[in-house]
Amino acid sequence: MNPSDRARLSFDDFDELRDPRPEQQDFDRIVSAAISRRGFLGVLTLGSGAAALGTGTLLSTFASSGEASVVADAGASRFGFEPIPIATDGTVHVPPGYRWQVLASWGQPLFSDAPELDTATGGTAQSQIRAFGENTDGMELFAIGRHQVLAVNHEYVNPDVNLVVSAAKAYEAAAAAAESAAAEAERIAAAALAAGDAAGPGDKTDATAVDAEVVVLPVSAEEVLKLQNAQGVTVMEVIEGDDGWSVVKDSPFNRRITNNTEMRIAGPAAGHALLKTEADPDGLRVLGTMNNCGSGRTPWGTYLTCEENFNGYFGSTDVDQALPEAFARYGIKTEGRYAYERFDERFDLSKNVNEPNRFGYIVEIDPADASSTPVKRTALGRFKHENAASVLAPDGRVVVYMGDDERGEYLYKYVSRQPYVPGGDTDTLLDDGQLFVAKFNDDTSGQWLALTPEATGMDAAEILIHTRMAASAVGATTMDRPEWVAVNPVAVEAYCALTNNRERGLVLEDGTVPKPVNGPNPRALNHFGQIVRWYPADDDHASEAFEWNLFVMAGNPEVYDDAYAGSDNVHAGNLFNSPDGMQIDSTGLVWIQTDGDDSNEGDFVGMGNNQMLLGDPATGQIVRFLTGPKGSEVTGLTFSSDRRTAFVGIQHPGGTFPDGIEGMPRSSVIVVKREDNATLA
Ligand code: FEO
Ligand code: CA
Ligand code: CA
Repeated sequence: MNPSDRARLSFDDFDELRDPRPEQQDFDRIVSAAISRRGFLGVLTLGSGAAALGTGTLLSTFASSGEASVVADAGASRFGFEPIPIATDGTVHVPPGYRWQVLASWGQPLFSDAPELDTATGGTAQSQIRAFGENTDGMELFAIGRHQVLAVNHEYVNPDVNLVVSAAKAYEAAAAAAESAAAEAERIAAAALAAGDAAGPGDKTDATAVDAEVVVLPVSAEEVLKLQNAQGVTVMEVIEGDDGWSVVKDSPFNRRITNNTEMRIAGPAAGHALLKTEADPDGLRVLGTMNNCGSGRTPWGTYLTCEENFNGYFGSTDVDQALPEAFARYGIKTEGRYAYERFDERFDLSKNVNEPNRFGYIVEIDPADASSTPVKRTALGRFKHENAASVLAPDGRVVVYMGDDERGEYLYKYVSRQPYVPGGDTDTLLDDGQLFVAKFNDDTSGQWLALTPEATGMDAAEILIHTRMAASAVGATTMDRPEWVAVNPVAVEAYCALTNNRERGLVLEDGTVPKPVNGPNPRALNHFGQIVRWYPADDDHASEAFEWNLFVMAGNPEVYDDAYAGSDNVHAGNLFNSPDGMQIDSTGLVWIQTDGDDSNEGDFVGMGNNQMLLGDPATGQIVRFLTGPKGSEVTGLTFSSDRRTAFVGIQHPGGTFPDGIEGMPRSSVIVVKREDNATLA
């Protein structure tokens, strides 16, 4: 791992490094517990949702494993483009007849009083708050009158890129330390040699190893503020002209929401003692939203931004501080990720122990009003929210599906008490309702378990603050890191990307297996991921029963001939790992984005850089549409209402994407169109 990779670990990997799990004890047992490729019969289907629903005859492609991939590719293709090969280079590729352009990159000013990004410094806190943020993620496009308004999440930051000056100093200091350590080792070895001893290799200091430990952190309050201002959400007007799409500078819709923007806390947990702080004794107002991962939109035209790995922003200047017991389940520790706590007391647990309880929610933002106050909707629970996929039940109640992205955490849904009435008051629809968690049975049935005081033994507010514990109390199914949920607008079904889970099936030292393989998570040591889909009973997303199957299991049939080969709709022409971002377009095609291992080696050979693929729910066919630059994650997708433009997020690219400036890769939203301006795909 080179220093740059180390410094830009995902939060997830950071948590794992900081908190290594117990050694695996019984590898053979785990592997034998994994079901053979043929053994998946019954949970994997390529049939259409409508056909599979209710019939109980789930079509398995594994029944004829030899010719399976032929089965997967049979049938008329709905894709109007030529699938592309993998890429391992530093740029974006799209199919022949398509083109892409950059719409907005980190640091790009949204207002004419803000400077262009100073690539020698990465800008200042003040320039950043008037500019497009870092690490673009979930996004949604809203048509507001004649205006097109794009709301975009900025998930986290890359201090090695954003803090140019501090990064250079950190690397210089590390190099100097490594050099002096190496010189000292040589001196000792020479002295030992002179004394007649042979110096063994263990006496040498590996300068590379020292260098690999460099993590760039902010060194001042100004740098902390700059990082805080690079996160959150951008709302900006965009327009299509003769030269393609561009950002409308100074539009009244343009707005930056950051780690410090004031917002309201609403729903049953608002005002709870656990949400009160010295600065907010009522527990009703909070500053900021953070680690804004996936997105969602409500039927009434507001934006939902989802707070994911909020835990890493908090730390304690008192390393011996005893933290509340509940912090452990949420990964909140005295060591923070970004050193905020050293320069901003609000993030210092020794000063504000309740502050982390005010993050980990879904936040609703009105993109039509740049002066509106964002609202944290506690009724949707507190966990590492990935995205929020809304759909209306037949009776008009609002259903919001949500994943909690951590190994062995759960899949949730919220159902509003009252129906949505177009033009009616929507302010309490996301405050008054019931939160459920999913239980998947191995026989392909499933239930949504209500998180009520009776079922959990917790009070209503506590359920929404310590949601993970409430879900465990009712026996929810541990999942392989639920990332995005997507609801099909043309069939009553929903999909969740289960990105990977290297802890699935792990045997702890005491012999227990906290996350045993189960129906929708059928592979131990799952580093490829899968996509589960479900069909609500009675064609009603509000119903409490469902049937499920797996749409795809990623894998590598070039390397494996067992479960790790993946499902039969995976073949040499469409290899990928770690499905993550997902949207289903208005024609019912499933767009799948990946955030996985892009080494193109070993188990991942033939997969190349992260990518975006397109799946057909009816046939199970999956084809590759776009490849991202090396090092990047492809995440965030929305369409123009005429479906002639796709907005795609390229997060934390490596190399010099997109400007060709050494040391200055910039996360960017790109637009993709057909050259003939026809509708996409
Ligand atoms: Fe922010 Fe789980 O991805
Ligand atoms: Ca994600
Ligand atoms: Ca991910």
